[in-house]
Amino acid sequence: MSGGRGIDPRYMQELKQKNNIVEVIGNYVALDRKGGNYWACCPFHHEKTPSFAVNEADQFYHCFGCGVSGDVVKFVQEMESTDFMGAVRILAARAKMPVPEGDFDNERAAELKRKRDTMVKILLDSAKFYLANLYGGSAQAHLEYISRRKLSPTTVKKFGLGASLDFYSLPDYLAGKGYTREELTDSGVLTESKNGKLIDSQGGRLIFPIINAFDEVVAFGGRLLEKADFAKYKNTKETMVFNKSKTLYNINLLKKLKREQTIREVIVVEGYMDTISLYQAGFRNVVASMGTSLTKDQARLVKRYSENVLISYDGDFAGQKADLRGLEILKDENLNVKVVPLPDGLDPDDVVKQGADAYQNCLDAAMPLIDYKIHSLEQKYDLGKSEEKRAFLSEALKVVRTAESESEKEDLLKKLREKTGITYQSLERDLHNLPAERKQTEIYLPPPSETGADKYKKAARFVLAAKLFSAPYAENCDFEGIEFDDNVHKIIAEYISACARNGDRVRPSELFEILDEDSPEFNEILDLNYGDKLSGPVAERFFRDSVRTLEEENLRDRIERYKRLFETERDAEKRKEIAREINEYTKRLKRNGGGK
Ligand code: UTP
Ligand code: MN
Repeated sequence: MSGGRGIDPRYMQELKQKNNIVEVIGNYVALDRKGGNYWACCPFHHEKTPSFAVNEADQFYHCFGCGVSGDVVKFVQEMESTDFMGAVRILAARAKMPVPEGDFDNERAAELKRKRDTMVKILLDSAKFYLANLYGGSAQAHLEYISRRKLSPTTVKKFGLGASLDFYSLPDYLAGKGYTREELTDSGVLTESKNGKLIDSQGGRLIFPIINAFDEVVAFGGRLLEKADFAKYKNTKETMVFNKSKTLYNINLLKKLKREQTIREVIVVEGYMDTISLYQAGFRNVVASMGTSLTKDQARLVKRYSENVLISYDGDFAGQKADLRGLEILKDENLNVKVVPLPDGLDPDDVVKQGADAYQNCLDAAMPLIDYKIHSLEQKYDLGKSEEKRAFLSEALKVVRTAESESEKEDLLKKLREKTGITYQSLERDLHNLPAERKQTEIYLPPPSETGADKYKKAARFVLAAKLFSAPYAENCDFEGIEFDDNVHKIIAEYISACARNGDRVRPSELFEILDEDSPEFNEILDLNYGDKLSGPVAERFFRDSVRTLEEENLRDRIERYKRLFETERDAEKRKEIAREINEYTKRLKRNGGGK
């Protein structure tokens, strides 16, 4: 989050007026004017053809490659690796304006910032406390564990590892620092126990601080020192600073590495220990997804550092379908994905313990996903036995069939020829004779029917985008009868309504002041502003349909709520009243054409 959004909005407006986003960004990258926008190769991820667009009219940028977007302040923040106030100072200097002193006009924003700052402070205090514990003479068990895992003192320091010794010393320590109970539990560091006492959420564990790209401790991973029948790792709960699916462990050191050198490829592993061991062995270009299934947000994050990704999961992971799906996500983000084959049952940490060479050999054997699938099939069968060979082939050919191009197919068939000694012609014939299966029928199946939630979300995005970018057909829509249930949607709708009330022009870039950066929902809405998605009769019709969808949804929702109320209400008068409401809304729904 940008933080520091408590500055007088009038100051921010002037600052932005005097710092035209096109000029500012033009100082960092070469911009090319095309159509209504300026274009460049994105400074936040590697690419060869420009997909980074700067919109001068609305003063924001958006990258179609990696999905980043923001206003001029956010741009400077990212480019200069500084915080919100840092960017404001740079831009103020550029425009020869004075630097504002916390003129907290926007109470809500200021309040959020205070909350966040406190949370980060609690996390940092806790990290320091854990660190001091580790060297304080009472952490024998933790130190023994660390040495059993062969981590050097330098490595332990580098990753800021720490020790929780028990459940009560952290709460005692933090109590002395004047935080409120709520602040402490909100941060996730402490948990309320059954008897109402606050306890260390990581009681007794070895602590791995999770640090974001701005060097802030945002959470902890904690490992049990001994085997137990409950989870060996426990992460801090999700908070306003920690969203596990958007975070990669070790992203902070990866960012530093990128300042030193070009990162040719990023190695993605599953675990904390894998990361640390690889780093110690000299593979510093490593991050962990903290569990297996990689998310879209994590893929985008990786893309800022390199477009080449080496997936280095546990040896047997291909057996798990969910993880292969994670890899498709990387491909969707246009990353070059290769999979590092590891011996069955071993993880990167196990392999690198046999020596950096051993792991380097695995890296050298990295292969495209499709080859990796065939490779792992090969492990399942003994190709020396003709029956097993046939079984292998029938599965392998199914994989070949999913190849993206004819040349890829040919290449794979040649490899199968090497492995099995069967002639190319026979393999090709077998491939064509494979019984038609899902893949073929899939083409003829209608797309999976949209769930109500998807339909609703799409409608909400469209209606908001049309209003936000002042589509003429949206002019008379004032959101009456619509209730948005997504938080980002709510904020945008509120902003638009406030503009209407005050007679102000809607300026999309102002939303960057209010909304969380990298909000995927906001990005979806911004995406709608490109191409011709918002103009023409089709758009107009879709807008009207969308408004109706949202109104209906709202009516249905109300009817539902009243019905539930009706079931529990005992008072006869009130029951009559509720019934009247239900009737009224049902009638309206029918009139709208949405009654079911
Ligand atoms: P692994 O079970 O592969 O752990 O989980 P590991 O890193 O090899 O652990 P060691 O070697 O036994 O210490 C991979 C990652 O999945 C997450 C953690 O981020 C872990 O590093 N995880 C795993 C959890 O969050 N909770 C768990 O109970 C297990
Ligand atoms: Mn391990």
